[in-house]
Amino acid sequence: MAGPNAVRLHVVTGKGGTGKTTVATALALALAGEGRRVLLCEVEGRQGVARLLGTEELPYAEVEVAEGAGGGEVRALAVEPRAALLEYLDVFYRLGRAGRALDRVGAVDFIAQIAPGLRDVLLVGKVYEAVRRTEPDGTPTFDAVVLDAPPTGRITRFLGIGEELAGLAGGGPIAGQAASVAALLRSPATAVHVVTLLEELPATETVEAIAELEAAGLPVGAVVADRVLAPLPGAGQDAGQDVAGALAAAGVPAPQVEALLDQAREHAARVAAQREQLAALSALGRPVRELPALPGAVGVDLAGLYALADLLEGGLP
Ligand SMILES: Nc1ncnc2c1ncn2[C@@H]1O[C@H](COP(=O)(O)OP(=O)(O)OP(=O)(O)O)[C@@H](O)[C@H]1O
Ligand SMILES: [Mg+2]
Repeated sequence: MAGPNAVRLHVVTGKGGTGKTTVATALALALAGEGRRVLLCEVEGRQGVARLLGTEELPYAEVEVAEGAGGGEVRALAVEPRAALLEYLDVFYRLGRAGRALDRVGAVDFIAQIAPGLRDVLLVGKVYEAVRRTEPDGTPTFDAVVLDAPPTGRITRFLGIGEELAGLAGGGPIAGQAASVAALLRSPATAVHVVTLLEELPATETVEAIAELEAAGLPVGAVVADRVLAPLPGAGQDAGQDVAGALAAAGVPAPQVEALLDQAREHAARVAAQREQLAALSALGRPVRELPALPGAVGVDLAGLYALADLLEGGLP
């Protein structure tokens, strides 16, 4: 199904609170809707995916959370550094039982503390393992892995850590694997998507993050503008004048008509401000996808999530 150059690892970053978890989950559902087997990973220990989908907390195991057409499915995994470290010790040093004994005396936390960068290596390493995993018949276990990644402020370091580490030690299993991870992250099989709101701060942070990712040789995918406002129907330059006239003619008191007009003008101003940010982001020359602001104060519910997934049909470039 996926061609040799298709993106296998979608990394979703963005300023805090812009919609990373929502977009990563919607993207996973969109890909599963096309028959792909998708792993949705989170690495921040926040259980954002479980909260969004209304499921129980994700364990450190791949849990099926959604089915798609034609055999598509989404499995979700909350990658946890301690468990990842134990797995690592087991795989690379065959420290199955001994690793667990190390954990009991606090060594695992100790290692994680003295080498903070190691935490990120373990998290990214686990994602790498999932991308590379194959079934006994040699086909990839997952057609795509979607990572609900750390925010823009930390993403370049998070993804760059493998290279740092690979350059450090000569040989050794961790250095060797770090080099493979770094290679995957810089290949066309990876795309780093940046979620943003069409507001000044997140848009500026998006521009900076893309420059940083490019400088680090990491492949930038799409910019996803989330919570985009739609213009009011029929609202042109004189938003609502006709409606106001009609309302007044129907006997609606003037102060109420005026209040409605104010709201319409305010909305039109916000739409115009968003369009400006959108134009600036489009000038980056990256594909820009827009997702609408869904109604409701409490955030995206399941129906909304599937609506966003529909809009991401075909995935992200
Ligand atoms: N298109 C949308 N329409 C309406 N609400 C949205 C939309 N996208 C996201 N939200 C809401 O915005 C809030 C933040 O979204 P989300 O949790 O996905 O952001 P995040 O970037 O993962 O945040 P954090 O940095 O805290 O992890 C949530 O309440 C979510 O439901
Ligand atoms: Mg989140």
